[in-house]
Amino acid sequence: MTFGITNATALEILDSRGRPTLSVTVELSDGSSGVAGVPSGASTGSREAVELRDGDPARFSGGGVLTAVNHVNTEIAEHLRGRTWESLADLDRSLQALDGTQNKARLGANAIVGVSMATARALAASAAQPLFEWLPSVGQSPRLPVPCFNVLNGGVHAPNALDFQELMISPLGAPSIAEAVRAGAEIYAALRKRLAADGHATGLGDEGGFAPDLAEPEEVLAVIVAAITDAGYTPGRDGVAIALDPAASEFATADGTYRVNGQTLTSDDMIDRYAAMIDAYPIWSIEDGLGEADHDGWQRLTARLGERIQIVGDDNFCTNPAIIAAAIDDHIANAALIKLNQIGTVTETLEAMAVCQRAGYGQMISHRSGETPDSFIADLAVATGCGQLKTGAPARGERVAKYNRLLEISVARPDLPYGPPSR
Ligand code: PGA
Ligand code: ZN
Repeated sequence: MTFGITNATALEILDSRGRPTLSVTVELSDGSSGVAGVPSGASTGSREAVELRDGDPARFSGGGVLTAVNHVNTEIAEHLRGRTWESLADLDRSLQALDGTQNKARLGANAIVGVSMATARALAASAAQPLFEWLPSVGQSPRLPVPCFNVLNGGVHAPNALDFQELMISPLGAPSIAEAVRAGAEIYAALRKRLAADGHATGLGDEGGFAPDLAEPEEVLAVIVAAITDAGYTPGRDGVAIALDPAASEFATADGTYRVNGQTLTSDDMIDRYAAMIDAYPIWSIEDGLGEADHDGWQRLTARLGERIQIVGDDNFCTNPAIIAAAIDDHIANAALIKLNQIGTVTETLEAMAVCQRAGYGQMISHRSGETPDSFIADLAVATGCGQLKTGAPARGERVAKYNRLLEISVARPDLPYGPPSR
C-alpha cells in the first residue's frame, strides 16, 4: 500500500493545562486526511524524546511550540511531499533519519509524533477503516482494555502534600467496558462525597482526580477502598482493584533515598512499605515505585514483588525498545508504560510493545498529564490488545474522550473481549 502525501500542517493549540502544544494535519494524495493532538508530560523521564519548546520568555514563559510548528509546516512537509511511501513504518523511519539525532531533539518529538499519529489516522481514513482496525497488531488479538481511572492526584500533578502522584482504580472484574466505565464514575462520585463529608477539599489535580490535603499514602488508600465499597463494588481483583503510580523519581533525593510525607526512606524501606501496602490493600499494579536511576533497587523490587503484582516501568523505560530490552535482560519490572510522545513515532511505540510482548511483559498504554481531546490511545489500546489503558479520571473532557471512545468501539464491535490478557 504505497501512498503519497500532499501536505502536512501544524498549529499551536492549548493543552488541558493551558500550555501550548501542536495540532497536526496530514493530507494524502487520495484526498484522505488525519488530525492529531500532541500530549505533553510533567513528570518526564530523563531519556524521553525531546519535546521542543521555543524558550522565548516573551511567549508562554518560554513554553511556546512555534519552532516545532514551523518544522512541520516547512522542512517536514517538504520532505513528506517529495516521494512515495511504502508504509507508516517507512515514513516514521524517514522522519527519524531527517531529524538526525538519537532523541528527536532537532525537529522535536512533539512535531514528529504529531505527524506520525496524523498519518496513521489519514491512512485509516484512506482504507475506510476505524483507527483501531487499521493499526497493526503486536501479536495479541484486539480487546477492550481495563481502564485505570486516576481518582486521586498528588506529586507534581497537584498542589497538595501527597508525594505519590497517581492512585488509580481498575475494574478488573467488570463484565464489560461499559460496566467498567460505570464503576469508575460511580466510585469517583462516592469518593467525592466521602472526601467532602470528611471535610477535605474536592478540587482536582491535572489528570482530573481529587487532590485533598492528605499526605500519607496509606490514608488515601483506605479512603479509596471505602469509596469502592460505598459505591457497591467489591475491592479486589474480582471487582475493583487499585493501581499506583507513585512516580518516585519526583521524590527521590540526590543521595538515593526517598522523601515520603517528611520521612526519609531507603530503597529497601520503600520496598518493605509497598509489600505492606499490598498485604493491606487490593493493589494489583505499581508503576515507578522507585526512581529511574535506582537500577539495583528496581531489581530488588521486581524480585520481591514481581510474582505478586504488576511492576511497571515508566520514567526508566521511556517507551524505548532498546531500553526496555536491556531492562528485560536485567530482570527489571514485568510491564512497561507505553506513551507515544516518550519515543516519538507510532512505529517505535509498536516496537516497544512488541519487545514487551515477546518477553511476557505487560503493557499499559497511557495518556500524559497535559492532554487534548485526541483519543488515539484508546484505538491503540484496542488494536494492540494489551488490555490496559490509563487515561486519568472519569471526568474532564480530555480524559473522558478516551473512555468514551472505548464505549463507541465496544458498540461497533460487540464481539471484542474486555479485560487484561491472560499471560
Ligand atoms: P506525566 O505523568 O504525563 O506528567 O509524565 C504521567 C505518568 O507519570 O505516568
Ligand atoms: Zn508514570
